[in-house]
Amino acid sequence: MSSCFKQPDEQLLSDLKTIVGDGGWKPGNDASRYYEDPRGRFEGSGCLVLLPENTQQVSDIVKRCNESKVGIVPYGGGTGVVAGQMSISSANAIVLSLERMNQVRELLLDDEVIVAEAGCILENIHETATNHGLMFPLSMASKGSCSIGGNLATNAGGIQVVRYGNARDLCLGIEAVLPCGTIYSDLSPLRKNNTGYDLRHLLIGSEGTLGVITAATLALKPIDAETATVYCAVSSPADAFGLYKQVRKHLGNSISALELMSQFGLELVTEHFPALTKPFAENHDWYLLLEASGPLGTGDRLEVALAECFESEILLDAVVAQSKAQQDGLWDLRENTPEANRSAGAFCNSDTSVPISKVDAFIKLTTEKVKGIHPDLRLNTYGHIGDGNIHHNVLPPAGISKADFIAENPNIVEAVRMAINETTIAFGGSISAEHGIGRLKIQDLELYGGEAKLKSLRSIKAAMDPNNIMNPGAIVA
Ligand code: LAC
Ligand code: ZN
Repeated sequence: MSSCFKQPDEQLLSDLKTIVGDGGWKPGNDASRYYEDPRGRFEGSGCLVLLPENTQQVSDIVKRCNESKVGIVPYGGGTGVVAGQMSISSANAIVLSLERMNQVRELLLDDEVIVAEAGCILENIHETATNHGLMFPLSMASKGSCSIGGNLATNAGGIQVVRYGNARDLCLGIEAVLPCGTIYSDLSPLRKNNTGYDLRHLLIGSEGTLGVITAATLALKPIDAETATVYCAVSSPADAFGLYKQVRKHLGNSISALELMSQFGLELVTEHFPALTKPFAENHDWYLLLEASGPLGTGDRLEVALAECFESEILLDAVVAQSKAQQDGLWDLRENTPEANRSAGAFCNSDTSVPISKVDAFIKLTTEKVKGIHPDLRLNTYGHIGDGNIHHNVLPPAGISKADFIAENPNIVEAVRMAINETTIAFGGSISAEHGIGRLKIQDLELYGGEAKLKSLRSIKAAMDPNNIMNPGAIVA
């Protein structure tokens, strides 16, 4: 695949440095942070890192690279986990980081939108919105370092999709530089706009392969008067789902998060983060972190719903947070889970989805299949149960390091990955729920995407980026 990154000549490199000026670039061999994979599986490389300050500079860079047919890798916060933000097969890539384009351009409070540049850190958008009495609901563990451009490029999901949808559902307008260098600008706050093909939705989730997103108009939401957070003990994922349905009768659309965890996952996160405490004295098989935000009285309604669930024995135990600090403590158990998996040597981190009605059967069958590959493998199964998006993190048997285990079982990583993929497909699911395809899942997309989809993706890519300069080697090889 190295052929998809043509080597830039000295003239091009010099022109690109001139476009961004002093302080606007870094030598490619002295920019290691842009080549890091959050899970340590890949190492990126590049010959020049560019840090444009405005959309015109991005346009000039892309135009110049397109003339020379040299590939660009757009880079947001670097938190992607499918190697979409790094060239892993060639050191010829020009890395285009949007980090200096981090301004909020406009806040239209009556329209309930914020217009933010691509390099804005997600958490900063949260803060700006909240300071003005509104909120931006897209959220995930990496909120302190991921950028909105990357969130949109990957159509990120996270913890509040069950109520507010994915990044796509929260983006009303977009500004992007297309592969020829043309600036596409439609940052209007319109809620309705049916004027032909929707380029915004084509660019969202395109992982930088059809253009560089430079700014976006994001829909803000009202801040609810009350937020209630509860950590529930249940005996199965099916009961977690049953509990959700029961609570929903009382809280309707107020349920904003629904995260499944297991006893093993709770042990793992509290072991790796000793400051965290387990919510219950006793152990249970499964847990559900449920959050509801709504009008005054939401907490009381949740208590009534939980009492009903106790009576019907779906709910075994519950800890309702009594303060913001307690809410944060419960969320810390969930949000530190990816880091606990990494520290514990997880060698497979799945991100697949199935219809919500099939989550319980999916978890049972995938666990059985993974254990069938090696009975001592340990699974930390957790995730966004309300979206049918379960993450299986598979760890080596206790007492063996990841490196030693993989050295002894060289085919196991692929065998586990494919067992989860095959089961996902058998249940009518998707092999990438919220992380995208990047460079990690290209073969999976080829295997499961289907002819019509693959053909269309390739045609769109060829039509919009005939010189294959925009993130070449991602999504479509
Ligand atoms: C999570 C990431 C891995 O939900 O998607 O923890
Ligand atoms: Zn997730």
